[in-house]
Amino acid sequence: MASPLAKCLCAAMLILTTLWASHVSARELSDMSMVERHEEWMAENGRVYKDAAEKARRFEIFKSNAQLVDSFNAGNHKYWLGTNKFADLTNDEFKATRTGFRTSKTTNTVKISKRFKYENVSAVPASMDWRTRGVVTPVKDQGQCGCCWAFSAVAAMEGITKLTTGKLISLSEQELVDCDVEGEDQGCEGGLMDDAFGFIISKGGLTTESNYPYRAMDGNCDAKKSASIAASIRGYEDVPANNEAALLTAVSQQPVSVAIDGGDYPFQLYSGGVFTGDCGTELDHAVTAIGYGTTSDGTKYWLLKNSWGTTWGENGYMRIERDVAAKEGTCGLAMEPSYPTA
Ligand SMILES: *[C@@H]1O[C@H](CO)[C@@H](O)[C@H](O)[C@H]1NC(C)=O
Repeated sequence: MASPLAKCLCAAMLILTTLWASHVSARELSDMSMVERHEEWMAENGRVYKDAAEKARRFEIFKSNAQLVDSFNAGNHKYWLGTNKFADLTNDEFKATRTGFRTSKTTNTVKISKRFKYENVSAVPASMDWRTRGVVTPVKDQGQCGCCWAFSAVAAMEGITKLTTGKLISLSEQELVDCDVEGEDQGCEGGLMDDAFGFIISKGGLTTESNYPYRAMDGNCDAKKSASIAASIRGYEDVPANNEAALLTAVSQQPVSVAIDGGDYPFQLYSGGVFTGDCGTELDHAVTAIGYGTTSDGTKYWLLKNSWGTTWGENGYMRIERDVAAKEGTCGLAMEPSYPTA
């Protein structure tokens, strides 16, 4: 007669065997349904491949991304991933065309004062969302052009323009892509927000999005369109580096351009929640900090406006962990923030 312990073990093994069996069939099922999942995803994202070979190649990438998404989401995290519109791209392909921040190699090209106008701001609200104050234009989409730097600079400029003139005007990224060759700025091949601010100041301002619409590719500068100035800035300042407290005072006053390490898989496939990494501090992308807050479970976050359309993240935005142990901030976001001044 079996001891209670052996019975117990036996029952446990039976349960394990059953679980294993159902696991196997679930896996076979999921392999079959992965094809359907890819088909559905293609339809939702309007994706068409040029031939069967390309489709087969994209399916393998999609499958590997979907498996990554599923296994990540099965764990306990403060954020979740999704098979968003970047789900059939390898991380290398994604990095090559959707980011575009160039770290400044030559600091002397940047004529910048060390002044930080918000250094004496002591009382800041517990939370801020510049969208609710009408200071943020709708989320834009840089497409396959590495000019995140232009979108970041423009969003910060749209913010200060609304705050000082009362007018929310969507301004032209394409003008920066085509016309701005200041410092590191090279259109779809990357650039730097401070160099963009420098260009805008020396040129006297920017024209509107509607006058000089975005085309997601490099082009010749249209001097006529560029001459029709809709908004201007007087200067720009860097937020003291590696200082989230300083960044908080700045973001409490206006939207701020932020460089970030946004090239890794979790960032590519981010779908919602408060992003906590994995990411490094190799700044390769640029976004705009348009607020901050704290979730009901006490997690502090920054609110970032991205330029990857509204289907990425939380309708085009990301919440990312704030006040972390690393002085650089999550993904290096506190390393090189800056803002234009009116
Ligand atoms: C901050 O306060 C100090 C001391 O009063 C002052 O010297 C400094 O100019 C102030 N900074 C700004 C940006 O107003």
